[in-house]
Amino acid sequence: MMLALVAFAAGLGLVALILRLLSPQIRKYAAGGSCRSTVRLDGKVALVTGANSGIGKETALDLASRGARVILACRDLEKAEEAAAEIRTRVGGAKVEVRELDLADCCSIRAFAQRFLREVDHLHILINNAGVMMCPYMKTADGFEMQIGVNHLGHYLLTYLLIGLLKRSAPSRIVVVSSLAHNFGWIRFHDLHSQGSYNSGLAYCQSKLANVLFTRELARRLQGSNVTVNSVHPGTVRSELVRHSTLMSLLFAFFSMFLKSPKEGAQTSIYCAVAEELQSISGKHFSDCAPAFVAPQGRSEETARKLWDVSCELLGIEWD
Ligand SMILES: NC(=O)c1ccc[n+]([C@@H]2O[C@H](COP(=O)([O-])OP(=O)(O)OC[C@H]3O[C@@H](n4cnc5c(N)ncnc54)[C@H](OP(=O)(O)O)[C@@H]3O)[C@@H](O)[C@H]2O)c1
Repeated sequence: MMLALVAFAAGLGLVALILRLLSPQIRKYAAGGSCRSTVRLDGKVALVTGANSGIGKETALDLASRGARVILACRDLEKAEEAAAEIRTRVGGAKVEVRELDLADCCSIRAFAQRFLREVDHLHILINNAGVMMCPYMKTADGFEMQIGVNHLGHYLLTYLLIGLLKRSAPSRIVVVSSLAHNFGWIRFHDLHSQGSYNSGLAYCQSKLANVLFTRELARRLQGSNVTVNSVHPGTVRSELVRHSTLMSLLFAFFSMFLKSPKEGAQTSIYCAVAEELQSISGKHFSDCAPAFVAPQGRSEETARKLWDVSCELLGIEWD
C-alpha cells in the first residue's frame, strides 16, 4: 500500500515536472492566433458590450489603441469606470467613454440606444460581447431565461435599434461573440425559456447557437448594405465567465496553463472588427483569427429564420 502511494506521488510529481518544463510551448500553443493587422481606426466609433472585464475589456483597449472612440456599454458603472481608467492608463490619449446598458432589461437597452443615437453620429464597429454562463435559473426584467435573454435577445434588440446608424456609417462591422459551445446546443422552440426543465449548461449552449444563427440570418438580410456581421469563438479564456459554476471555476483554475489570457481571447473579435481582408466577408464564424467550423444546427436556414421571427415576437418588434 505504502509503495503504491509513493509510486502515485512520484507519478504526479513527474507529470507536474513535465508540464512545468513544457509550459512555454503549452502557453504558446494555448495562445492561439493573433490579429496581425496594424490598421488605424482614427475617426471611427466602436461600441463594446460587457467591456468592463475579460475579453470585452481587452477588445476595447485594442480598438482604443488604434485611435477609435470606444464606448464601453456595461451594467455596472463602477466596474466600467475602473476599466475605462485602466485603458486610459495603458493607452495614452485613449478616447473611451462609459454608458449604462443592462442587456437583461429591454427598457435599459432602449434607453441606452435612444441616448446613443442622440449623442453619437456614427457607429462603425459593434461588438456584441457581453455574456452570462451557467447561472442558476433566473429571468430578465422581461421574463426571458437569463442566458437566452442576455446573450441573444438583449443583443438582438440592441442591434435592431442601432442598425440604421450602422448602415448610415457603412462600411461598418458587427462582431457577435459566440462560442464553441454552440456545437452542443439546439434551439428549444417549444420551451425557449426552459420553464419546463432547466439545465444551465444546455441553456448556455442554446444561447451561443442563437448567436451563430442570428449572425447568419442578419448577414443574409444585410447583403448589399456594406454592413458585415460575423460570429467568433474566442477560445477558452481565463475570465470571470465561470463565476456561477463551482465545477467550471475549479476546472479553469486547475487547467489555467492551457487557457488563453483575456488579451489572447480578444484577438479573434479584434480580427473580425479590423482585418482588411474581411472587409466584405459576412455571415461567417471565426476562431483563432481563421474561419471555423459551424455545427449543422448552426447552418440551418430554416432554424435561423424561425429564431428571427420568434425573437421579433418576444421583443415586440418588426425587423424585415
Ligand atoms: N471565457 C471563455 O472561455 C469564453 C469561451 C467562449 C465564449 N466566451 C464568450 O465571450 C464573451 C465575454 O466573456 P468573458 O469570458 O470575457 O467573461 P466575463 O469576464 O464574465 O465578461 C462578461 C461581460 O458581460 C457582462 N454582462 C453580463 N451580463 C450582462 C448584462 N445583463 N448586461 C450587460 N452586460 C452584462 C459582464 O458584466 P458584469 O461584470 O457586470 O457581470 C461582463 O462585462 C461572452 O459572450 C462569453 O459567452 C467566453
